[in-house]
Amino acid sequence: MHSILIIGCGSIGERHLRCFQKTGRSTVSVCDANARLLEEVSRRYNAPAFGTLNEAMLAQRFDAWVICTPAHTHLSIARDGAAQGAALLIEKPLSVTLEGVEETREAIAKSGRFTAVAYVYHCFPWLVAAREFLQDGTYGRPLHVSVVAGQHFPTFRPAYRDIYYARHESGGGAIQDAITHIINAVEWLVGPVTRLFCDAAHQQLEGVTVEDTVNITARHGSLLASYAMTQFQAANEAIFEIHCEQGSVKIESHAQRWATMKLGGTEWTWHATKPLERDDLFIAQANAFLDGMEGKDCGLCTFDEAVQTLRCNRAALDSCATGLPILLS
Ligand SMILES: NC(=O)c1ccc[n+]([C@@H]2O[C@H](COP(=O)([O-])OP(=O)(O)OC[C@H]3O[C@@H](n4cnc5c(N)ncnc54)[C@H](O)[C@@H]3O)[C@@H](O)[C@H]2O)c1
Repeated sequence: MHSILIIGCGSIGERHLRCFQKTGRSTVSVCDANARLLEEVSRRYNAPAFGTLNEAMLAQRFDAWVICTPAHTHLSIARDGAAQGAALLIEKPLSVTLEGVEETREAIAKSGRFTAVAYVYHCFPWLVAAREFLQDGTYGRPLHVSVVAGQHFPTFRPAYRDIYYARHESGGGAIQDAITHIINAVEWLVGPVTRLFCDAAHQQLEGVTVEDTVNITARHGSLLASYAMTQFQAANEAIFEIHCEQGSVKIESHAQRWATMKLGGTEWTWHATKPLERDDLFIAQANAFLDGMEGKDCGLCTFDEAVQTLRCNRAALDSCATGLPILLS
């Protein structure tokens, strides 16, 4: 059994707690600065609780830390975890600026422990299957990607005004909180963004001023990509189209399916995957992380891949602020 410490047991921390417990491969403790929440979550899941990280560190050495606090705190907590010799699963986005990235990379290298970033799309079977198909090269080189995605965020996160989402400094807004998942997934499918232009605005969400709507046009090397997202729309959807030299691949993430169409074809051939609940994806991620800790291949987002996506988040915010395209490499 692996001993796991979940730091921050808010919305996603509670899910990680539940899903790590469900792996049957770990004992899970929780830490949160909010005493009332900590007490309630700890009681509900019968998990040992710590009000501060110091308390947790004094009590025992954990095999892994799962960092589920707001993004601006991720890197300093990660360095503390590395110094304790813990493996690290860090929630997305990795951080809100590049400050502290190098120190954290060094601390992780020194600890020698497995580290991953919880961009959970890496555990979506329909994305994994489409990625394998693209990498097999059956349709040749990918040349263009378009993604249209969004949801009615207030329906899924009614407390959005009162959490980290309300401010860029704590990882809020559609760029750092939502489209970052999509960009990371596309980088995983076709390689890193090398240049981007971003236009974004606050269009509708009440009680916040951060952007809820984003358009990005990007290059991933010679591949062209366009991304569109709103967080006020009725439909909860994410549709990816990847057009290659000899055919196209489509992923409907909300429908848990992907499709192919060879050049000359007229209809999509759909490939369904086993229907999954949201927790199933996080149980898969928890199991993949435990696999990684045990030295097995796991496919989770690496620290360096998350740094690259963090650079995209920053570039998107900077492009939006200046009205200029940003070169990433
Ligand atoms: N992968 C996903 O699908 C997904 C979904 C939601 C959130 N997230 C990410 O997870 C992170 C947390 O999001 P959330 O929605 O759970 O936020 P949240 O506000 O619901 O919970 C954060 C918790 O961290 C606690 N906390 C803050 N600083 C702390 C510290 N120093 N020590 C101990 N506890 C501390 C707070 O008291 C709070 O309970 C963010 O980075 C967010 O982007 C990822």
